[in-house]
Amino acid sequence: MTESENILAADDIKKVFHSKQGPLHAVDGVSLSIKKGNTLGLVGESGCGKSTLGRVLIRLIEATSGSASFDGVDLFSLSDSEMKKMRKKMQIVFQDPFSSLNPRLSVADLIAEPLIVNRICASSADMTGRVFRLMDTVGLARRLYRSFPHELDGGRRQRIGIARALALDPEFIVLDEPVSALDVCIQAQILNLLADLKRNSRYTYLFISHNMSVVRHVSDRIAVMYLGKIVEIAGYDVIFTAPAHPYTKALLSAIPIPKPGARGKRIVLEGDVPSPVNLPSGCGFSPRCFCKSEVCSRIPPSLTEFEPGHSVACHFAKKEGGEYLNGADRT
Ligand SMILES: Nc1ncnc2c1ncn2[C@@H]1O[C@H](COP(=O)(O)OP(=O)(O)OP(=O)(O)O)[C@@H](O)[C@H]1O
Ligand SMILES: [Mg+2]
Repeated sequence: MTESENILAADDIKKVFHSKQGPLHAVDGVSLSIKKGNTLGLVGESGCGKSTLGRVLIRLIEATSGSASFDGVDLFSLSDSEMKKMRKKMQIVFQDPFSSLNPRLSVADLIAEPLIVNRICASSADMTGRVFRLMDTVGLARRLYRSFPHELDGGRRQRIGIARALALDPEFIVLDEPVSALDVCIQAQILNLLADLKRNSRYTYLFISHNMSVVRHVSDRIAVMYLGKIVEIAGYDVIFTAPAHPYTKALLSAIPIPKPGARGKRIVLEGDVPSPVNLPSGCGFSPRCFCKSEVCSRIPPSLTEFEPGHSVACHFAKKEGGEYLNGADRT
């Protein structure tokens, strides 16, 4: 993979929030890259910093330090007006399709809003045509044009959120838990829609989820995040068949699988995630790790290439094959 194929590259991103308890290290030194047309799945438990990282990468919130480039352009040095132009290429779909949509606007108004704000349309007929085409693209029936969000189910509401993200013809989309608030069968419909859109238009996605089974279906590569850091990153097949970080192994061992006896032993993590206000001195995972040693509480492991395309942050990274899921087929 050459540098030039990466549409997005981030280096040592940190985001510190100021909380009552003190500085809260939500993102603590993340470096990653995403190839054009690929999907990077970002997984980890609640509060590990996934949404903060996604928002920093498209500058919805400002990073405390670090750098990021999009299509070779240094994102963090852009002025507000330059960033406004750049943001057309970088969009986000939020988790909750109800609270993220203004309940007073109709489907047509909601989808037209980004077109109006960015003065994209030459006439009202042009706008109506674009809104209808976006509705077709995301599978919303045209008869719903004048409906309001509360009249629609969660799946249709999320389709509106996706249409709004597509309205400005973006290249990169942060999907922040786009199906977590939906029923399981509607989740599958939205995942299929996102996959079709990517196939047809070569969008690049950062797909955020706390659910390993969901990212498995959509990702080319998967980054596992813990306490503000990426602890393992590799192709989806490597993550699912030969994970090397104990935390990834624990997450995988918790996935429900339909075949009784097909799974290895379930790894139950003891204790809670440490507070991002008082970070442990060594490895952030060591207080809960089932294979820690004395060195782990003293020296934080850096994210190091374990084999080509597979990096792990663990002093005792160990590859184990085929134990957690039988086969990596995405059926
Ligand atoms: N605006 C903010 N001010 C202060 N703290 C914040 C803010 N936004 C997020 N945090 C804190 O930063 C940490 C990371 O939060 P973030 O929302 O990024 O996690 P997440 O991995 O997306 O979690 P979830 O799976 O629950 O969405 C959490 O401890 C959270 O409480
Ligand atoms: Mg989140």
